[in-house]
Amino acid sequence: MTEQTTPDDITAAVLASFARCPDERLGTVMRALTAHLHAFVKEVGLTEDEWRAAVRVLTDTGHITSGTRQEWILWSDALGVSMLVDALANRAPAGGAAGPAADGTGPAADGAGPGGSGAGPRGNGAGPRGNGAGPRGNGAGPAGRVTESTVQGPFYVPGSPLRSYGDRIDETPAGEPLWVHGTVRSLDGRPLAGAELDVWQNGDNELYAVQDPQAPEEHLRGRFLTRDDGSYGFLTVRPTPYPIPHDGPVGRMLAATGRHPWRPAHIHVIVRAPGHRPVTTHIFDRESEHIDSDAVFAVKPSLLRELTAHSGGDPGRPAGLAGHSGTWWSLASDFVLAPAGAPV
Ligand code: BEZ
Ligand code: FE
Repeated sequence: MTEQTTPDDITAAVLASFARCPDERLGTVMRALTAHLHAFVKEVGLTEDEWRAAVRVLTDTGHITSGTRQEWILWSDALGVSMLVDALANRAPAGGAAGPAADGTGPAADGAGPGGSGAGPRGNGAGPRGNGAGPRGNGAGPAGRVTESTVQGPFYVPGSPLRSYGDRIDETPAGEPLWVHGTVRSLDGRPLAGAELDVWQNGDNELYAVQDPQAPEEHLRGRFLTRDDGSYGFLTVRPTPYPIPHDGPVGRMLAATGRHPWRPAHIHVIVRAPGHRPVTTHIFDRESEHIDSDAVFAVKPSLLRELTAHSGGDPGRPAGLAGHSGTWWSLASDFVLAPAGAPV
């Protein structure tokens, strides 16, 4: 009598079907995918109803995905796959793993405006803090440690306007003013002049400009170049926590599994400099709600920063807030880039 076909026979047949794959890497990936997928189905004892439900979820994911809504990447984000791929692609170079930042504790953490002089860009090497604090300056990140990367997310729009030192990125009222400043350095501590910071964030309506039909196109985003001493500074608003899009299959998964869709308050930054590996990262408000339960697992301790409150009359007020009498905030954040060829 012929023997019965077992579940393992089916797995073996699928694995064997990839034996002659002409692309070695593709063969490796497809065999590993098969092995893990079959092991998963066997481990949970997937029922036919569950298989049908999974097909429905995948179909719904395809239907809701459009030019402006990428539900597949949202699955990757919400299941931590985006962060995993990012972590594998951006391992710290030898001797350069970023540790927890000491920001907010150094001399520049407060009163951090560009001299409050109304003088605008100074380019005199003194930095926005004018404290002569040397290469480590404000303690806004561990010197000699490459800034860690994190997810880019779906709201990045290339080609943001090039703005000048001290400019604001909010084009309509969007929250309490925030002065963000610091220095970009190479791994050896050298300040990087002309490095580009490409920044974007949400406003107090929880939306990015691309999500908000009322918002001017260039609202809450901009590119800034560092000055001769590697310093940068811009005015924005305090970011607020916001939910990832949760009116689709990913949102239903979050609700069904007792998870929430919220991300803690953050500012997105891509830092680029000639001859250096660019980094796509966030500045997180360390006191933000949901900092310990980010829906997309993107928080890294080294990216947490302290926001310092200032009164309207604070003499360190940035020039751009000259007429502002209410509370404003400041935040110091340095960035360290690895040379392009640095061994990983
Ligand atoms: C974001 O930070 O913009 C983001 C990241 C992942 C999913 C949704 C939003
Ligand atoms: Fe974001």
